[in-house]
Amino acid sequence: MKAVMVQAFGGPEVLAVADLPDPHPAAGQVLITTEAIGVGGVDALIRSGALAAYGAAPGRILGSEVAGTVTEVGEGVDTTWVGRRVWALTGESGGYAEQALAPAETLVPIPAGLSAVAAVTLGGSATVAHFALRHAHFTRGESVLVRGAAGGIGVMAVQIAARGGAGAVAVTTSSTERGDRLRELGATHVLDRLGRGAPDAPGGYDVILDIVAGADLPSFFARLEPNGRMVAVGVMAGPPPADFGMEMVAAFRKSMSFATFSADTVPAPDRRAATAELFTAASRGELKAVVHETLPLKQAVLAHQKMETGEVFGRLALTPSRK
Ligand SMILES: NC(=O)c1ccc[n+]([C@@H]2O[C@H](COP(=O)([O-])OP(=O)(O)OC[C@H]3O[C@@H](n4cnc5c(N)ncnc54)[C@H](OP(=O)(O)O)[C@@H]3O)[C@@H](O)[C@H]2O)c1
Repeated sequence: MKAVMVQAFGGPEVLAVADLPDPHPAAGQVLITTEAIGVGGVDALIRSGALAAYGAAPGRILGSEVAGTVTEVGEGVDTTWVGRRVWALTGESGGYAEQALAPAETLVPIPAGLSAVAAVTLGGSATVAHFALRHAHFTRGESVLVRGAAGGIGVMAVQIAARGGAGAVAVTTSSTERGDRLRELGATHVLDRLGRGAPDAPGGYDVILDIVAGADLPSFFARLEPNGRMVAVGVMAGPPPADFGMEMVAAFRKSMSFATFSADTVPAPDRRAATAELFTAASRGELKAVVHETLPLKQAVLAHQKMETGEVFGRLALTPSRK
C-alpha cells in the first residue's frame, strides 16, 4: 500500500510517499481501506517537530483521522464491523495511507448522506469544539470569542456556539474575506488576529476558546468578563509567555478561569456518542463541513504547503487513488 511518511522533522518536503506491506490489525484494532483522510494543524505541528517533546517521532506515517470501510478486525473485535463505513482515529499508526489501522474503540459509523470527506472534516474538529465548549461550561445566551476561528476546529466551534444560542460569537481571523465566510457560519463580530476591528464587539466575553496561544494570549485572557472562562485547545502561535501565570493570578479579583482541554481526556464512549450526534446533525444540514480542498494522497506535500501559506479555510482532506 501507499502511505505518506515523515522522514525527518522539517518543512512539507520531509513528507514522502512510501510503498509499505499491507498492515494487519492487532488485538483491539481494525483495518480500514481509506476513502478520505483528514489533514489538520496538528499534523503540521507533528511534521515540524513542534510536538517532539510529547513523543511525536519521525519515521512514522503522518495523520490520525480517516474514513473508509473496515476490511479486517483483530482479536477481540466484533466481526460485524467488517464491511461497514466508519470514521476512526488511528493514533500512532497513522492515517495518511491507503490502509489504516485504528483502535476499534474509536470507530463511529458514518450515516447515509454524509460523505467520507465531510466525516474527516468534522469528526475530530467538531468533537474537540463540542467538548471544549462544554469544558468552558458554555450556556445559552453567553458571549463567546473563538480565537483562530478560520481553522478546522474554529469553524466548528463557531457553528456549535451559534447553534447553542450564544449571545454573541466573536472571532479572530487574518482577513476580511475569511471574516465574511465566518459570518456565514454564525459569527456575529469579526476581529483581526490582535482582537481589533469591530467597534460594536462585546467589551468582555464569558467564554474564550483559544486555538492560537502565543505571545498575545494574555491580552485575550484580559478580555474575559468576571467569572469568564478561557479554554486553550491549540498552540498555533507557540506557547504563551513564561509570565502568563503571574498575569492570571494578578487578575484574581474578576474570578477568571484558565483551563486547557484535550479530547484525549474524554472517555471513548462519550466521544463516540458526541461524534455520532455531530455526524447526524451534519447529515441533516444543521452543521456544515467546511472543506477547503480535497487532494490526492500522493499530494500530501502540496497539502502541507497550502497550510504553511495560511490559505486554508476549514480543513483539507486527502483521498487515496484507486488502481
Ligand atoms: N485540544 C485537542 O483535543 C486538540 C485536538 C486536535 C488538535 N489540537 C490543536 O489544535 C491546533 C490546530 O487546530 P486547527 O486544526 O483548527 O488548526 P488550523 O486548521 O491549522 O487553523 C488554525 C487557525 O489559526 C490561525 N492561526 C494560525 N497561525 C496563527 C498565528 N501564528 N497567530 C494567530 N492565528 C494563527 C489561522 O487563521 P487566520 O489566518 O484566519 O488567523 C488558522 O486558520 C493545534 O495546536 C493542535 O495541536 C487540539
